[in-house]
Amino acid sequence: MENAIKIFVIEDNATMREGLEQVLSHYGYSVKAFDRAEKALPEIATESPALLICDYKLPGMDGLTALAEIRQAHPLLEVIMITAFGSIDLAVTAMQNGAADFITKPFSADEIGIKIERLLQRIDERKKMNHLEAENVYLREQLDAPFQNGDIIGDSPVMREVFKTIEKVARTDSSVMIYGESGTGKELVARALHKNSHRRARPFIRVNCSALAEGVLESELFGHEKGSFTGALRRKLGRFELAHEGTIFLDEIGDISPAMQLRLLRVLQEKEFERVGGEETLRVDVRVVAATNHNLKEDVEAGGFREDLYYRLHIVPINMPPLRARLEDVPLLARHFLARIRVATRKPELTLQDNALAALQEYHWPGNVRELENVLERAAVLCESDAIGADDLPLLVKDRSAILTLNENQLDLNATLEQVEQALIERAMKLAHGVKAEAARKLGIKTTTLLYKLTKYGME
Ligand SMILES: Nc1ncnc2c1ncn2[C@@H]1O[C@H](COP(=O)(O)OP(=O)(O)OP(=O)(O)O)[C@@H](O)[C@H]1O
Ligand SMILES: [Mg+2]
Repeated sequence: MENAIKIFVIEDNATMREGLEQVLSHYGYSVKAFDRAEKALPEIATESPALLICDYKLPGMDGLTALAEIRQAHPLLEVIMITAFGSIDLAVTAMQNGAADFITKPFSADEIGIKIERLLQRIDERKKMNHLEAENVYLREQLDAPFQNGDIIGDSPVMREVFKTIEKVARTDSSVMIYGESGTGKELVARALHKNSHRRARPFIRVNCSALAEGVLESELFGHEKGSFTGALRRKLGRFELAHEGTIFLDEIGDISPAMQLRLLRVLQEKEFERVGGEETLRVDVRVVAATNHNLKEDVEAGGFREDLYYRLHIVPINMPPLRARLEDVPLLARHFLARIRVATRKPELTLQDNALAALQEYHWPGNVRELENVLERAAVLCESDAIGADDLPLLVKDRSAILTLNENQLDLNATLEQVEQALIERAMKLAHGVKAEAARKLGIKTTTLLYKLTKYGME
């Protein structure tokens, strides 16, 4: 076979190795198989294989080390890693370290055949762009696109980690899974990933998976053909098609049905699908970013979310910290929102008093950044002067009862109980309009006890 495409295989298990050789030759590739990475690496330069399939667990140099060496010495050579069933974490690591794809043992001849074909197609497309052009594109990207975290505000260590991850993965095509409570900025992150990617000039398409009923979601994502169901008056393109060469953002992915999970899995694996009621198989090039406020891993364990889909999406996880875990960012965020609010409310002189800022930094923000934004906006509207004070904040925020929510590092029992006690006393005193006997009654303690505690805490 003179012109056959050459593929290297590194696999120490003889049965597996011979099986692969047989399958790949059957597909018409020319195969060279090795039982150790050390033997294969020196031959890459002389034989220039089109791609390389490498087992993860090898005697001597392991698959991950081989991958690292290949990325260094032969950046254009693509690698498919073989991993054992159940060691998906390793597969994820391999993808993060530059493997083009992975396949889990045991696999069928078809599976590996399809993967190879698809990868070769990708390599081909890349080659079509001649060297000079490729270089230009690269330089242009480098020049006019310094990393921008867009509107994501934060300077705390946890947020800096988030920025670092975004910067690292934005230029890749790896799937990203964004975790975080409501209002932590998951959508902002998805947009930042797109803005900092080579896909930035192409569409960013968001789909709110939880807002749509199953049938609707399916035709939203994949489109439908005319007449495929009552009311399908004309062909409709799905969001996956619309996102071609861009990014699709699957928001609230934790809420999708088992049937949709299965359909999504196929798109992620094969990059192809059919419109609802359609025959034609469509291929798209989309980068997938997903978000959820669930603990997906727990959903997987409880059987509510497919494990294979989870691992497909979880290639790069980004965890958005709740605002209470980064209260040091509150002043920065407040300044950011205030600037916006000044314009919106036409109060150019609007500022925040110190006591208000202090209250904002003590609150536990169950609604996270979104809640902070809302609180400030409301206070700005209600505030009669140009300086928002603690009194302009909602009761919940200015009331120290926020202390009732413990932060993660809080462990000192006595100190914590005292804080709780103070918060409750403050709340009761407020409700009783300062009448101590009344406050004591609300608290269910004797007035003398309350007096003692007020003195003890210097709260009179
Ligand atoms: N770090 C941040 N800097 C500036 N604005 C932020 C930040 N995080 C969130 N916001 C703002 O808070 C609001 C909520 O953010 P976003 O929609 O991205 O949250 P989310 O995590 O997707 O929440 P949900 O799960 O409720 O959809 C938006 O108005 C967004 O602009
Ligand atoms: Mg959101």
